[in-house]
Amino acid sequence: MGDGRRRTLHAPRTWWQWLHLALVALVIFSLLSPATSICPSRCSCRDETLAASCVDAGLEVVPIQLNPDVQVIRLSGNRIANVHYTLSFYTSLRVLDVSQNKISSIGAKNFEAQSKLEHLNISFNIISTLGKDAFRGLRALKVLDLSHNQIETVERGSFKDSNAVQLIDLSHNRITSFEDPTVFKDITTLQTLKLNHNQIIDVPSLLLKNIPGPCALETLTLNDNLIEVIEDRSFPAPCSASLKVLTLGSNVIKEIEKSGFNTLHSLSSLDLSYNNLTYIPTQQLSKLNLLSYLDLSGNTFHSVKPVAFQSLFQLSKLKISRLPHLNWVDSRAFVDNIKLDTIHIDENPELHRMPTRIFHGNPHLSHVSLRDNSLTTVDVSHFPLDRLRSLDLSGNPFNCNCSLHWLWKLAQAESQLPLRDNFLNQGNETGPDIQPQLRIVVKNLKCASPESLADHLLIEIPESTVSCETTWLTVAIILALVLALFGATCVVLLLFSSEKRSSCWCRRKASKNGPEPESDGRRLASGLVAPPGPPPILMLMPDKHYRDAILSNYSMKGGHDSDMKLAEPWLNGDVRNGGNDYSPLDVTSSRSKPHVVYV
Ligand SMILES: *[C@@H]1O[C@H](CO)[C@@H](O)[C@H](O)[C@H]1NC(C)=O
Ligand SMILES: *[C@@H]1O[C@H](CO)[C@@H](O)[C@H](O)[C@H]1NC(C)=O
Ligand SMILES: *[C@@H]1O[C@H](CO)[C@@H](O)[C@H](O)[C@H]1NC(C)=O
Ligand SMILES: *[C@@H]1O[C@H](CO)[C@@H](O)[C@H](O)[C@H]1NC(C)=O
Repeated sequence: MGDGRRRTLHAPRTWWQWLHLALVALVIFSLLSPATSICPSRCSCRDETLAASCVDAGLEVVPIQLNPDVQVIRLSGNRIANVHYTLSFYTSLRVLDVSQNKISSIGAKNFEAQSKLEHLNISFNIISTLGKDAFRGLRALKVLDLSHNQIETVERGSFKDSNAVQLIDLSHNRITSFEDPTVFKDITTLQTLKLNHNQIIDVPSLLLKNIPGPCALETLTLNDNLIEVIEDRSFPAPCSASLKVLTLGSNVIKEIEKSGFNTLHSLSSLDLSYNNLTYIPTQQLSKLNLLSYLDLSGNTFHSVKPVAFQSLFQLSKLKISRLPHLNWVDSRAFVDNIKLDTIHIDENPELHRMPTRIFHGNPHLSHVSLRDNSLTTVDVSHFPLDRLRSLDLSGNPFNCNCSLHWLWKLAQAESQLPLRDNFLNQGNETGPDIQPQLRIVVKNLKCASPESLADHLLIEIPESTVSCETTWLTVAIILALVLALFGATCVVLLLFSSEKRSSCWCRRKASKNGPEPESDGRRLASGLVAPPGPPPILMLMPDKHYRDAILSNYSMKGGHDSDMKLAEPWLNGDVRNGGNDYSPLDVTSSRSKPHVVYV
């Protein structure tokens, strides 16, 4: 049959058509009037848009009886085995989708008539080789999707004519290397090259080097390959300077040479996730001055050291998740990353604690996720809560004691705002009247201990289990303050009534002991009592146990040396432990500027 076809190639056009019509078992009507365009059953054709769609139509060949002016043909999900000779009818084609078929070869020169074709999708077929002249004639081609085939070899000259291409997707093939590193040498327009999921063992630096400058390449994806080392020369000019997005995830990278990334002056997004890095390549990354997205998840480093992301001043999104060995993040880890907006530190089973104030140097931080780690507690001071927009702490084995009261309260507030939720879910987060507010993930925010609360959701447990019994404490503080005020009033009254007597007495005493000190209470006091070390501080104890004793002291012993009273600690609000641990006289405290009172 194939031979027959070849022999009839130069036969009159009607014969050529007739053969193919027979091949696809067309109705006799169309055989009699070949110029009429026919829409095969299970296809839909729209003459007004010049588009034909035969998706999942069980076709085994490209239909040839469509409107010859058709611009869009969609044939995905059929059983088409090749595109040999069948496309020459459609010279106006702009879009051709033959993805998900059984094409094993695209042969040579089968697209010669498609000088207007811009979008060619041959993904999900079984092509193994791209031969010379495979895309001959595709001068307008912009998007070429060859992903999910079995391509091992890309021969010299495969892309010779396609010098307008912007995107080439060769992902999910079997490429180990490019035999001819100059295959893209005519494509000055190439912006995106996808090489994910192949068997590439080195960054194809020669390929990059041979793309003519000024290089337009902005995106290079190399996820799921077998790259072990990023070398100093992996990313050569001219394309190194234009590259903005680079993905190297799921390789086996264990080493990045010192200047491996030094040439990537424009890089803004870098994926190094799921490699074999045992350290954070701080120095290698530090040259990426424009980097705003970095993913280092799934590597094997143990800690995030101080200033681990040095000089990455533009970094706004950072992911360090799924690190099986991560057990420590330094409190100064992110100090250089002043633009940090979103951070994910999720699913790190060895991460049991976080340092306090870790994000306080990141004024733009608004989304924090610490999901599914092994944190047993989190201090409120970890987070700049006033700036945060979302916080996910779910899936940690929290010890639900009163250290988590703050989180309990935030979770309650979250679950009680369905109205706001509705509003926000409409996608308008910054409506006129609603301030952006902190969102807490309450689902799976659970307690692991104490045992009585194990596996309970934090929002479901009563407040008393996480409150720090502040009620009696508050009462005690208020009581102590009242007593202190009362005491102070007494002191002031006594001071007034004894001022004359006291100052006469002082002058008398001072003239005996030498020159009169400055009229400053403290100096006067040291002149009189002269204790070594810190200034003498005497304190009136605002506790009800001592109140009566002190007050009776005043009335009984007024005017004696040892009865100088300092009425300061409670005026500073310094009432420790609700006033219960005070000794009535505390002379060791060295508070600022004591207030000496004579009675
Ligand atoms: C090509 O087709 C596949 C499957 O039909 C689809 O997933 C893919 O997005 C298409 N590629 C482009 C570039 O449109
Ligand atoms: C990389 O890490 C994976 C999983 O951690 C491991 O199985 C593999 O042996 C490592 N490969 C190399 C080359 O170190
Ligand atoms: C609450 O539990 C955490 C973790 O076990 C512990 O570090 C913290 O000291 C506890 N807080 C209080 C107030 O007991
Ligand atoms: C959000 O609200 C603003 C002003 O109220 C409006 O201009 C904008 O279109 C809204 N956006 C969405 C996604 O609804």
